[in-house]
Amino acid sequence: MLSHEQMHHAARQGRTLHSVYVYQAPVRLWHWVTVVAMTVLMATGYFIGKPFLMLPGNDAGMYLMGYVRFAHFAAGYVLAIAFAGRIYWAFAGNEHARQIFLPPLFNGAWWSEVMFELRWYFFLEDRPKKYVGHNPLAAVMMFFLFVLGSLFMIATGFALYSEGAGHGHWSDVLFGWVLVALGDSQTVHSLHRLGLWVLLSFIFVHVYAALREDIMSRQSIISTMISGWRSFRD
Ligand code: HEM
Ligand code: HEM
Repeated sequence: MLSHEQMHHAARQGRTLHSVYVYQAPVRLWHWVTVVAMTVLMATGYFIGKPFLMLPGNDAGMYLMGYVRFAHFAAGYVLAIAFAGRIYWAFAGNEHARQIFLPPLFNGAWWSEVMFELRWYFFLEDRPKKYVGHNPLAAVMMFFLFVLGSLFMIATGFALYSEGAGHGHWSDVLFGWVLVALGDSQTVHSLHRLGLWVLLSFIFVHVYAALREDIMSRQSIISTMISGWRSFRD
């Protein structure tokens, strides 16, 4: 039986291995809960900014935008609570649970691996490198676009929410300052909306990369976020 370090080393050299347990249950659960919450948030958020036409006359059954906003706020709570749980797990979980929060941004060797991955994704390298956790390019994108992006969406989302929830509500106490710091409500609305496109861009590239690497990188990818285990091939 190889130790974790030995397997890590062997994996980097691309030797045949069995499987390594990477993503613990809380990470996997959080990932898929976040996928559902963000899907609801992006669909409902888009229409909050571009509402459906409301016709005058009998308004029975006309609460449509009310339901859309309710779904947005409910999914917003789910996203935020799940994110808080994920931060807790960065402390409590294994080393891979910290990867997306703490990329080694000041390590030159690590950046050259980021560049290697970039070339690999552009079909300029013949053989993939193997990683037990995320590859460095994935980690850097997850940190800048997903972690910082989600924090921004949670802060601006609850700042907007606090306008309706009122003074003294916890959302006002924790995030009310965001409205002041960014100027006014309209600016926060616009930046919150811009965040939708930033996150959507991340998700498109992320899902493409997951599918591509599942086929090309000679290691398990998508099933790893389901079972937790990564297996390697020569
Ligand atoms: C992935 C995360 C999220 C996305 C993509 C998203 C997207 C959007 C979009 C596109 C809008 C319309 C902005 C506009 O054009 O005025 C919006 C509004 C809003 N969002 Fe989010 N949102 C996210 C997270 C959250 C969270 C966590 C909350 C917290 C509850 C939240 C609360 C709100 C509120 C209060 C509004 C304004 C509703 C209104 O003016 O009627 N959002 N969101
Ligand atoms: C709203 C959509 C999505 C978001 C925001 C998202 C976000 C993330 C994040 C932040 C991670 C890092 C997990 C961690 O280390 O804690 C991750 C990993 C992963 N995601 Fe997603 N994801 C989304 C959709 C999907 C979908 C649809 C798939 C399936 C095709 C997928 C497959 C994966 C896989 C396989 C990993 C692990 C990659 C690896 O082992 O290096 N994701 N995702």
